[in-house]
Amino acid sequence: MELNDQAALTSGADFWSSTAAGAVPAITLTDGPHGVRLQGGDDLLTGRPATCFPPAVASGSTWDPDLLRRMGEALGDECRAMGVQVLLGPGINLKRTPLGGRNFEYFSEDPLVAGMLAAAWVSGLQSRGVGASLKHFAVNSQETDRMRVSADVDERSLRELYLRAFQRVVTTAQPWTVMCAYNKVNGVYASQNHFLLTEVLRDEWGFRGVVVSDWGAVVDRVEAVRAGLDLTMPGPDATGDQALADAVNDGRLPAPILAQAAQRVSDLVAKTFKDQADAYDVSAHHELAREIAARGIVLLKNEGDLLPLSAGQTVAVLGEPARTPRYQGGGSSQITPTRLDDALTAISESAPGKVTFITDPALAARSDVAIVFAATEQETEGADRESLDLPREQLDLIARVAAANPRTVVVLSNGAVVATSPWDSAVPALMEGWLLGQAGGSAIADVLFGRVNPSGRLAETIPMKLADHPSYLDFPGEAGHVRYGEGIHVGYRGFDARAQEVAYPFGFGLSYTTFAYGEATATLSDIGDLEIRLAVSNTGSRDGREVVQAYVSLDGSRVRRAPRELKAFANVPIAAGSSREVTLHIDRADLAYWDTKLSRWVVENGTYTISVGASSRDIRTTVAVEIPGDEARYPLTADSTLGEWLSDPRGAEVLMDVFAKMAAEGGGGMAGALTMDPAMLQMAMSFPLVRMAMFPGSPFTAEALAELVEAANS
Ligand code: BGC
Repeated sequence: MELNDQAALTSGADFWSSTAAGAVPAITLTDGPHGVRLQGGDDLLTGRPATCFPPAVASGSTWDPDLLRRMGEALGDECRAMGVQVLLGPGINLKRTPLGGRNFEYFSEDPLVAGMLAAAWVSGLQSRGVGASLKHFAVNSQETDRMRVSADVDERSLRELYLRAFQRVVTTAQPWTVMCAYNKVNGVYASQNHFLLTEVLRDEWGFRGVVVSDWGAVVDRVEAVRAGLDLTMPGPDATGDQALADAVNDGRLPAPILAQAAQRVSDLVAKTFKDQADAYDVSAHHELAREIAARGIVLLKNEGDLLPLSAGQTVAVLGEPARTPRYQGGGSSQITPTRLDDALTAISESAPGKVTFITDPALAARSDVAIVFAATEQETEGADRESLDLPREQLDLIARVAAANPRTVVVLSNGAVVATSPWDSAVPALMEGWLLGQAGGSAIADVLFGRVNPSGRLAETIPMKLADHPSYLDFPGEAGHVRYGEGIHVGYRGFDARAQEVAYPFGFGLSYTTFAYGEATATLSDIGDLEIRLAVSNTGSRDGREVVQAYVSLDGSRVRRAPRELKAFANVPIAAGSSREVTLHIDRADLAYWDTKLSRWVVENGTYTISVGASSRDIRTTVAVEIPGDEARYPLTADSTLGEWLSDPRGAEVLMDVFAKMAAEGGGGMAGALTMDPAMLQMAMSFPLVRMAMFPGSPFTAEALAELVEAANS
C-alpha cells in the first residue's frame, strides 16, 4: 500500500467515517453505548430515532450477562439496519466517585461486574458483524478536566481495579476496537501511552483489534501511532496524515509501525458486515428495553410489604418525573428514542380508574397509596456532579407526602447514586429507578404492580454521606493531577476496610420473595479453578431471581487486601417454593494480586475464605479453602533488610551460618549484639545488609555480601 494511503487510513474522513484509501472502503462509527446515535449533517445533538435501551447504570444493576448479550445483539441488528459498522461502547470505566458525571454510562464500582457484563454485550453486538469499542482506556473516572487531567494511580490499583475490567473483556470477548481515553495516566496521555496501548493491551492481553482515539484525544499523531494508536477520530486530518508520512520518510517513525496501524484498520473494515439489513423489529426492541429496565430496578426498601400494589388500591402519583421521564443522561450517548413510555400512563393502565396525578401533597392522604417520583436534575458527559443530594424541592415533596400518607413509595430517577439518608427513614418503600431508557415508565409499573419481581442489585454502594466515600479527599484533584489516593480501596472495598456504615451496600436489592441459602462447599479443579456449590431456595410465594454473590478474603496476606472482593456471581431464576443447586466458578487467575516487586500476578498460598451471600454485607454461608500458591519468592539482594533475609528460609539459613561462624570465632561487636540482645535485633531488622556494612565489626564486606546474595538465591 502507498505510504499516503497508509497514513490516510489511520484518520477519519469526517466526524463519523473512516477514510477510504487504496482498496479499503470507509466504515461508519457512531455512539453508543445504549443505542445507535446515527447522525446526518451537522446536528451533533440528535440522531435518527433508535431504541434507547437502559443506560449502563441500569443494565449494570441487572447483574445478568445473558440480558446484556441480548441487548448487544439487538444493538447489532439496529446498526446493521442503519449502516453502522462500529458502535462506540461499552463504557466500562470504574465508578470511582459517585459524583462522576458519566457514571450513568458505566456499569459498576467493581471490575468483575463491569467486565462480565461488558464482555457479554460485546459478544452479542459482534455476533451481528458490528464492532464494539471498549471505552475509555483507561482510568477515565471523572469528567473534571477530562481532556488534560493526569490520573495518578499506583500500579497495583491500576492492574487490579482500573484495568481489570478491560482485561477481562479483551481476553474473553476480543472487542474489535478499544477507544483510548482523553486523560493522561500517570502523566502520559492515554492516546500516546505505549505502556497502555502496546505493552499491556497487545503484548500482555493479546488484543488484536484497532485502537481508536476518543474524539479529539490525539495530541501528536506521530507519538500516538508510535505508542500503538491506529485510528485518529474525527477527521479529516490531512496535516496529521502528512506528518505521519514525513516521519516515516525522515526515519523518525519506523515504516512497519505505520503499515501495521493501517493494516489493522483495513482488517477491521474487512471484518464488518457487508449485507445491510432493511429494518429491525422496533416493537420487539422496545419490549427488550422494557425487560432490561425492569430487571435493572433495585428495590431498596419495602416495609410491611407495601409493594407490590394491587389494581384495587387507589393511587396518588406526585412528581414531574412521573409524566416527564428522566431516562438517559446528556452528551454523546444521547439517543432519539423510537417511543417513550412514561410511568404515569403505565401506572394508570395498571389500575384503571384508581390513579390520579396530583401536585398538592396534602391531598396524598386521600389515596390508599402515594407514589412520589423524584429525580436528579441532570447527569451529563463533560461535567461531574456537585452533590449527592436530590434537589431541595424534591426532598420537601417527599417529606410532605410521607407526612400525609404513611403508605408512601418513592421512585428515584438518577444516573448515579444519590444520598437517601436520612429522608428514607420516613418512607416505607423506596425504588431505585436509575435512568431506564425509553421503556422505563412501563418497567417501573411492571415492578410496582408485581408483574416483574424485582431482582436488580446495587453495582455501586450508596453511602450515608459523600464525605464517607473512599474517593472523597482525592477528587477531583488540582493542578492538573488527580491522585487515586484510596488505592485498591475503591467503592465497597474501602467502606468495608473501614467498617463504615453505608445506606445500602454493594450487591444489595430486595425481592417480593425470600431466599434461603444452604451450606456452600468448594472444590478445586485440576487447573486450580474454584467451584463453589450451594443450594438456594425460594422460600416465599412468588417466583423470583436471586443474585448469588461470592466474595473472597485472605487473612494474613503478604499484601494489603480489601476485606472482601467479589469474585463470582450467578443470576438464577427460582420458582416459588423450590430449590436450585447454584454453581459459582472462580478462575484461579481471579485470585491473584498484582505484585509490584515481581511485576506480575501472583496467587498467594493460603487459606482463602469464600463468603457467599445476597450482598457484600449479607453473607449467608462461608467456606474455607486451601489454595496452593504460585512460586513468588522475592530474590534477596544486598539491599534487602535483615528482617527480609531472616524471614526467607534460604536467606535465614545462609545468614545464620555467618553469625554462627562469628560467634565461634569469639563473637563480640555487632554479631554479639545481634545474637544476644533481642531489642537490638529488632531494631536491626529494618537495616538493609549493605548499610550494616558501615558499622564497626560488621562481617558484611562487599565480597562477603556478594557471596551471601549468590548463596541465598542459588
Ligand atoms: C466521548 C466518547 C464518544 C465520542 C464520540 C467523546 O466525547 O468521550 O464516549 O464515543 O465523543 O461522540
